[in-house]
Amino acid sequence: MTAASNTIQIRHQDAHAFVVSLLQASGVPQKNSEIVARGLVQADLRGVESHGINRIPSYLARIRSGVLDPKAEPTVTKVTPVVAQVDGHNGFGFPAAHLGMATAIEMAQTFGIGMVSVKHSNHFGMSAWIVQQAIDAGMMSLVFTNSSPALPVWGGKSQLMGVSPIACGAPGGENSIPFILDMAPSVAARGKIHKALRRGEKIPKDWALDSEGRPADDPAEALKGVMLPMGGPKGSALAIMMDVFSGVLSGSAFAGGVTGPYDTTKPGDVGHFFMAIKPDLFMSLEDFRSRMDVLYQKVVESDKMDGVDRIYFPGEIEQLSEKKRRSEGIPFVEAEIDALNKEADKLKVAKIRVHG
Ligand SMILES: NC(=O)c1ccc[n+]([C@@H]2O[C@H](COP(=O)([O-])OP(=O)(O)OC[C@H]3O[C@@H](n4cnc5c(N)ncnc54)[C@H](O)[C@@H]3O)[C@@H](O)[C@H]2O)c1
Repeated sequence: MTAASNTIQIRHQDAHAFVVSLLQASGVPQKNSEIVARGLVQADLRGVESHGINRIPSYLARIRSGVLDPKAEPTVTKVTPVVAQVDGHNGFGFPAAHLGMATAIEMAQTFGIGMVSVKHSNHFGMSAWIVQQAIDAGMMSLVFTNSSPALPVWGGKSQLMGVSPIACGAPGGENSIPFILDMAPSVAARGKIHKALRRGEKIPKDWALDSEGRPADDPAEALKGVMLPMGGPKGSALAIMMDVFSGVLSGSAFAGGVTGPYDTTKPGDVGHFFMAIKPDLFMSLEDFRSRMDVLYQKVVESDKMDGVDRIYFPGEIEQLSEKKRRSEGIPFVEAEIDALNKEADKLKVAKIRVHG
């Protein structure tokens, strides 16, 4: 992508406080505002700006048009000792997902495993914050969701499946970092095209086709067309897998029925699927952790291809970004800050605080 113009640094604490103030002024209860803000700011910290606080204007537009209930509280129903279902009641996806993973973790602490299906939810942003929630509790996890149509199935030409991310994780050992895989089944996440549009940047031509089926480097044209699946039929199959586990199984929308986070006409009806797994089911925790150390060392110390300086473990680039941005602040472009401050004006809350 072409380089962004000059950036403005925002401290993560200021980004968090700003998002909480916008959400509370929009009727979101304090606890849920904090959960949404944490998920969004964590994405910006991890360098996943496509799913950070710049999502707020589109979420608020959905509240204003009455298709997302800011006051909704997710509820949980136990199905078996290791299975539960959360109903998001068309509130923010973040609190529904948080409750879902918290419930899965609680069941896994007692029974070794916990599985939760979430229905009637909305977009929950970057999946990795939910994987991190499990890691913070010492758990391995699977984090699946479905999403609005953007990707053709292999051989098709129109949008049917979502670019629904597949995510999973495991705690690391003394000398390794946690394993966090979080990837869309498309060549790139659709949010990266929205980000390029916000920033006035071009995109690589292998990410999407325009409405005429031509490779697109203009993000506006790409958004009118289709996303390209990664690995051809394999990416398409992963997108279908996310719909089976998150949509078909939960009772939420599926098969192209989910409404996207930029659409202000209908409730999202997104479904999610979470699993928490205790890592010491088959050996001591100490053994598990030292085996993760071995795996990490073998991966990052693997022989490098020509032109490669360093090999990273999944999630490592994002973890390095988080460390840097926690101390130096998060970079935004002026157009992004302007769009956020416009929301502050509408809701009569203070503008975002700029670092330094
Ligand atoms: N909620 C939704 O509906 C939705 C939809 C689509 C995407 N998303 C989010 O968009 C985000 C971006 O998705 P993406 O597919 O573009 O991610 P990506 O391609 O940037 O990264 C995918 C995975 O590959 C790993 N990775 C990347 N470069 C690496 C390298 N050089 N070495 C080793 N590992 C590396 C990352 O750690 C990550 O786990 C994700 O956080 C996802 O949850 C959310």
